[in-house]
Amino acid sequence: MSITPIGGRLFDGSGQKVTTASLRERKLRHDPITCLTAYDYAAARLVDEAGIDMVLVGDSLAQTMLGYENTLSVTVDEMLHHVKAVRRGVKNALLLADMPYGSYQVSAKDAVINATRFVKEGGAEVVKIEGGEKRADVIRNIIDAEIPVAGHIGLTPQSVNVMGGYKVQGKDLSAIEQLMRDAVALDRAGVACLFLEGIPREVAAMITAEVSTPTIGIGAGPDCDGQVLVFHDIVNLTFGPPAKFVRRYGDATGLITQAVQAYRADVRSRHYPSDEESYHLPKDTKAALETVMERKRAMRR
Ligand code: KIV
Repeated sequence: MSITPIGGRLFDGSGQKVTTASLRERKLRHDPITCLTAYDYAAARLVDEAGIDMVLVGDSLAQTMLGYENTLSVTVDEMLHHVKAVRRGVKNALLLADMPYGSYQVSAKDAVINATRFVKEGGAEVVKIEGGEKRADVIRNIIDAEIPVAGHIGLTPQSVNVMGGYKVQGKDLSAIEQLMRDAVALDRAGVACLFLEGIPREVAAMITAEVSTPTIGIGAGPDCDGQVLVFHDIVNLTFGPPAKFVRRYGDATGLITQAVQAYRADVRSRHYPSDEESYHLPKDTKAALETVMERKRAMRR
């Protein structure tokens, strides 16, 4: 059995550490791949320990964590801050980091420099880039620097101003043709996987059948090789109505609100903290203190 160190840990071939190679095997075996976003240490640990295959530090953190209007303003440094925290919480899952808007569009050199930061400083194993065939060259440059790249086509949120809003893509024949060209170009460029966002189920199925790289869908139907959702969406922490494709598996807003309100009520009614939740002096110190206090009181009399 070969023992190869991966990510500072020993991978003994037991199938625990997810790698770009194991994703491909999963596609061949028709074994569905799971992916969720995580943006901090606590969520990263919960997601990883639940056995999710891929953890994505998505630039959606611009909205979910930082309260920005869209993903356009988040910077490489802001992303890196979160990637580092997630790295500390993830053991087995493959760790992907989104390259934010502006970090790969200006030049291939910039793209490689920024991608390198996500690997060196953040500990990411794969970087994700939005866009189709026009990104193939930049993706090749990053892969040449030994950094695996995930593609992302369809509804690409960094293009919100060009798309004129967050709209389902690939709804007519020419748009479908373009999406197929995009998918094939990125597959040939050697992407480690391909995110398909906001496209009709039929188109996602065609792309999945056509490309050798695993497809990971979000709002792209059940025929992709894997699925990704935003952590805050599945636990209801988004303060708004969910998109059609979101399934809510928990109600963190309800749970947290209830806990915070109960804490507030307990403090205001002096039910928190109780004596059991307080620290106490050791017996002899307490006795000595009482003697001192008694002496002070006697002197005042
Ligand atoms: O930023 C993000 O969260 C994403 C996906 C959900 C695919 O890119």
